[in-house]
Amino acid sequence: MIPAAYTVPPEVAEVARLILEHPMADAVVEEIDGRRIRVDGHWLVDFASCNYLGLDLDPEVIAQVPGYLTRWGTHPSWARAIASPEPYRRVEAAVSELLGVEEVLAFPTLTHIHNGVLPALAGEGTVLVDLRAHRTIQDATMLAAARGATVRRFRSGDVEHARRLLRRPGKGPRVVCMDGIDSMTGNPSDLPAFAAPVREHDAWLYVDDAHGFGIVGERDGYDPTPYGRRGNAIVRWFGEHYERIVLTAGFSKAYSSLLAFVTCSAELKHYLKATVPSYVYSGPVPMASLATALAGLEVNRRRGDELRAVLWHRTRTLLDHLDKLGIATTNTSGLPLVELAVTDPSDLDAVGRHLFDRGIYVTLAPYPVVPARRPASASS
Ligand SMILES: Cc1ncc(COP(=O)(O)O)c(C=O)c1O
Repeated sequence: MIPAAYTVPPEVAEVARLILEHPMADAVVEEIDGRRIRVDGHWLVDFASCNYLGLDLDPEVIAQVPGYLTRWGTHPSWARAIASPEPYRRVEAAVSELLGVEEVLAFPTLTHIHNGVLPALAGEGTVLVDLRAHRTIQDATMLAAARGATVRRFRSGDVEHARRLLRRPGKGPRVVCMDGIDSMTGNPSDLPAFAAPVREHDAWLYVDDAHGFGIVGERDGYDPTPYGRRGNAIVRWFGEHYERIVLTAGFSKAYSSLLAFVTCSAELKHYLKATVPSYVYSGPVPMASLATALAGLEVNRRRGDELRAVLWHRTRTLLDHLDKLGIATTNTSGLPLVELAVTDPSDLDAVGRHLFDRGIYVTLAPYPVVPARRPASASS
């Protein structure tokens, strides 16, 4: 029971109900067997995890962990501003090389990055945020506002709206925030279209590529799949360069490891080290995660494109099958996030139970995890 002093706000009532009542929410996984999971005694095929490349179960990745633990112990337990074990330096160097950027700064999660880096970049300037940007970015804009920034929202994907807001006079830096790949629809945002006005106005384009890093990458027209090669993230996938772009991404999806990073110049890196609270006051990632991140980067170098080809074919099979069944999805990209919208939101519970009873585990996404029919209001 929720203590009487706390009432669940109406906007999360459905989330609260599903957590309490639905077998496909807040589940305890008792056992796994490859991509099958056991929940409450039922074996189910797991379509809900984001271990896109299967590195969580890759023997080569797992084999790296004991050596790191023997050498470094389980957990460094220094805030990064105090000291970082050497594998941090290697992982930052390897990611910088993969992306082709001057530097990256690593944190445990994207949430740490958004909450710390976004307010540090915005200062007392202006944050323009896509209405559909991930919830962790939306929350971070509130922190930016608390530190003196003005926050405005633009209609999702609407470059002209963002451009109009950029033209408004204002003091300080301007940061335009959006997702690289939408975490529900699986579709990429039009990054080049946003990069142009951002550069014209000397602003920053702050991109969350949680679902693109490790999946999409540079293209040369002869690529084995539409994902491109090397998984070096959405900026390269679009053939763009990093001028005025700050890319944030994480290892928790494609690389099955707890780690995230933000791209930066050496100068910006120094500024972020001094100003981002989660660098100065928060703990680091466990050593096992640094080990699996480094092992994952090595697997990516040798076999990443093969793994992505398998992922692409599986996603295509699913999309083709849905098409044959006449089931609509918003996914037009072929990326491995497939959203199936229920026509009537009140059917979500029953649809979830139907799938669960047939051995299928998916992510249930009620409002406000996905937008309600009526869009939240944008700045005029
Ligand atoms: C687009 C996007 N951004 C950020 C996050 C949060 O990432 P983290 O768990 O690294 O904080 C997620 C998590 O699912 C996500 O999908």
